[in-house]
Amino acid sequence: MSHLVKIHLFRFNPERDTQSRMQVFDVAVHSGMMLRDALLEIKALDETFAFRHSCGEGVCGSDGVNVNGVNCLACTTPLTSLTEPIIIRPLPGCPIIRDLIVDMSKFYEQYRAIRPYLIRTEPLPEHELLQSPSERAQLDGLYECILCGCCTTACPSFWWNPDQFHGPAALLQAWRFLIDSRDQAMNARLDALEGPYRLFRCHSIMNCVEMCPKQLNPTQAIGHIKMLLLNKAI
Ligand code: SF4
Ligand code: SF4
Ligand code: FES
Repeated sequence: MSHLVKIHLFRFNPERDTQSRMQVFDVAVHSGMMLRDALLEIKALDETFAFRHSCGEGVCGSDGVNVNGVNCLACTTPLTSLTEPIIIRPLPGCPIIRDLIVDMSKFYEQYRAIRPYLIRTEPLPEHELLQSPSERAQLDGLYECILCGCCTTACPSFWWNPDQFHGPAALLQAWRFLIDSRDQAMNARLDALEGPYRLFRCHSIMNCVEMCPKQLNPTQAIGHIKMLLLNKAI
């Protein structure tokens, strides 16, 4: 037996609207239904409604939304886990392009700034760069990030300083490359994180940890980087 839930949806089309509004839709809940399925049903009712999604499996990271004040992936959030009224807004802290679609440019800018790739000073070996099992294990809890932005867009330090503070997602990846045994740019990476903003603007409020749909811990990664920088300064 399915029942109806009311979904209160943020709507804003800058080409048509002078201000945003909330629009209510009734959606029939089916067994196993995820929030993304409900948004697709709404889209079928009103094709002007816009939201991002792709894989439907919690892999692509494109359908981050804010539901009842919590950032989550629509495709991995069971509709039955949500308490009514279900209020859906775009990820906070980013300019709104349309409805639930936000401009993630600053997020990607900060990600690019940490140079998210291996940097080598020595020539590459003829074959692959080997890692021991324990070296590889250092990357667990870091490589799984899908860059959904649920953490960074929940971070007050990022809201106030999106041009200067890298934000939790980028800093988690900064740590991922700092501890990669194959990388040879630790000093340059640490130098690039010096100063009051890029790293140290994190005040360990831990919104990022609460919001991460992959149960990753950016606050812990940021703490590790702070320790490295402090040890380097001694
Ligand atoms: S712990 Fe740091 S990065 Fe995470 S939400 Fe708080 S201020 Fe932002
Ligand atoms: S750390 Fe988690 S919340 Fe942040 S971008 Fe990666 S997967 Fe998303
Ligand atoms: S649609 Fe890809 S993570 Fe949700």
